Amino acid sequence: MPLLDAATLTETAYAKVNLALHVRERRADGYHALESLFVFATDGDRLSGCLDVGNEISLTLDGPFGAALGAGADNLVVNAAKKLQEHLGEKRGARLKLTKNLPVASGIGGGSADAAAALRLLNRLWDARLPRAELERIGLELGSDVPACVSSVTQMVRGRGEVLEPCHIDGLSGIPMLLVNPGVGVSTASVFSRWDRVDRGPLTASTLEDLIVDARNDLEEAAIGAAPVIADVIALLREQPGVRLARMSGSGATCFALFDTLDSRAAAARHIAARQPGWWSLETEIGGA
Ligand code: C5P
Repeated sequence: MPLLDAATLTETAYAKVNLALHVRERRADGYHALESLFVFATDGDRLSGCLDVGNEISLTLDGPFGAALGAGADNLVVNAAKKLQEHLGEKRGARLKLTKNLPVASGIGGGSADAAAALRLLNRLWDARLPRAELERIGLELGSDVPACVSSVTQMVRGRGEVLEPCHIDGLSGIPMLLVNPGVGVSTASVFSRWDRVDRGPLTASTLEDLIVDARNDLEEAAIGAAPVIADVIALLREQPGVRLARMSGSGATCFALFDTLDSRAAAARHIAARQPGWWSLETEIGGA
């Protein structure tokens, strides 16, 4: 249908990386109070969509990890679309296509970033003009990381994931970054349930140096308990020449490393691919803002 194709919109669901993630307490509602510095890679999944003639929401999947996901009602993109449709009382539908470049259940926000991209895309497609804060509020109903993924800018994130404070740290934007996943999926809920409930203190980093020296991912130990190979990923990343920081993102299993140059990142990616051909990796950068 050429008419519909002409009106196809696209959004990138940028990979989310927690440069630091401090877990402060388990709340009465079962969620954990967090302090986390979220940055976004310059790469991610791609979502495209056009209006459908009826009011149906349909989704097709492709890309390297497309087969790992179902396209039914439990897909976060479909969920997000239906929630927005309901919220708006929107009578039109949408035909969506998700190119899944990021591994699923991997701590880099794949599902959350996809849901946020769906909210942004449909807000445009249906000409709803909801302000960002409203999309973030709807996003929280879909998952704790979705609000931060709506704007996909560097943010200090608190609460369960709904208290967002855009922040700037000198020198962060454009840093060469390597993401590595050892091919195991870990469930966020199971990692949180393994957290040892020790509050190791607030996240106060205001420079890159603070982030490297003083900050942590408090879920690393719990995630390594669930998937010991994560320790191997971190160790291998840390021994690469030119690495400034290597840590796990989110609840894992994806880990990231920040490099001083594009060449050192490329050399590390080659070395790791040769040593661990079954692992997934992505050479990317920290996005602007
Ligand atoms: O909100 P989301 O669906 O992404 O969270 C998945 C699971 O991770 C929750 O059910 C909860 O067990 C855990 N979680 C948590 N504290 C948070 C975020 C997530 O305990 N701040």
